[in-house]
Amino acid sequence: MISLHDPSARGFHSDNCAGVHPEVLAAIGAANGGHQPSYGGDVYTARLREMFKEHFGDQAEAYPVFNGTGANVIGLRALTEPWSAVICAETAHIHLDEGGAPEKTAGLKLLPVPTPDGKLTPALIDRQAYGWGDEHRAQPRVVSLTQSTELGTLYTAEEIGAICAHAHRLGMLVHVDGTRLANAAAALDLPFRAFTTDAGVDLLSFGGTKNGLLYGEAVVVLSPEAAPGMPYLRKAAMQLSSKMRFVSAQFIALLEDDLWLRSARHANAMAARLHAAVRDLPGVTVVRVPQANAVFARLDPRVAERLRERFRFETWDRATGEVRWVCSFDTTEDDVDAFAAALGGELR
Ligand SMILES: Cc1ncc(COP(=O)(O)O)c(C=O)c1O
Repeated sequence: MISLHDPSARGFHSDNCAGVHPEVLAAIGAANGGHQPSYGGDVYTARLREMFKEHFGDQAEAYPVFNGTGANVIGLRALTEPWSAVICAETAHIHLDEGGAPEKTAGLKLLPVPTPDGKLTPALIDRQAYGWGDEHRAQPRVVSLTQSTELGTLYTAEEIGAICAHAHRLGMLVHVDGTRLANAAAALDLPFRAFTTDAGVDLLSFGGTKNGLLYGEAVVVLSPEAAPGMPYLRKAAMQLSSKMRFVSAQFIALLEDDLWLRSARHANAMAARLHAAVRDLPGVTVVRVPQANAVFARLDPRVAERLRERFRFETWDRATGEVRWVCSFDTTEDDVDAFAAALGGELR
């Protein structure tokens, strides 16, 4: 089998565009051979469940799944009733980028709130947190946060704690879309549990794919009483892998020897390097200081088009021409420097 792509082609489109971390690929190979029980009855999944308890506390139950949309949808479904609604930021992936799956598949009403930076606050939540007992209104039951956010910003542990306290006071639960939870932990320099379990989060989606897995995410239930239906929902939502050992083996590789932290720190550092290289270029306005692994900037769309002939990246906001540059575990300093030099050249 020959490669059909050019392995030297690099870009900043998404951390999904990177390949698989070699340690993860090796782990898949090491898990191969022989027979193991299917559907999560294997030794790899047993080990993985233990590892998640080490990171999130003894009560944490991890459910490996295929992808992030699936993790979000079944996690939210597990926390809700058919008449429930979920409060989220207007920029949330569950709202903008899941093809309506939370609505179509979980039957949920999303209640989006505009935010300046992708982050909810208790005051912003209050714009949608009302109407309990009113049969005309879908009943707010869950607040969903993304950490790090779709706009490359971060919640502090204290901010998540305040949101959880507020939501719980109102009788709601808290879900975290943690597709980039590793980038957040690396940037905050905190263990996962400090800004999830200990802050009061009830359930989260734990990302793997964007941090070097071939595929795989995990729903992590932190408040078991809040999500009793998880095993059944995972199967009913077609997210139960029969050969689960290969999803679990990847996560073991990620969590062992802190590969998750090394990779996330690196991706964040590359975004900081990119920010430093472009922030003072005349014609580039960095929209917000990057806190994780993505840089958002405004520039002349014609410059962006020319640059795209050499590096792929996304237009984030068509109205403003804002673009997004995402760094991955395998982004190199040379990638960043070559991109910044090309951008500088186009602007001259
Ligand atoms: C914030 C966020 N949540 C979840 C996901 C996971 O989506 P997918 O279903 O593509 O794995 C993504 C992927 O881009 C994302 O950016």
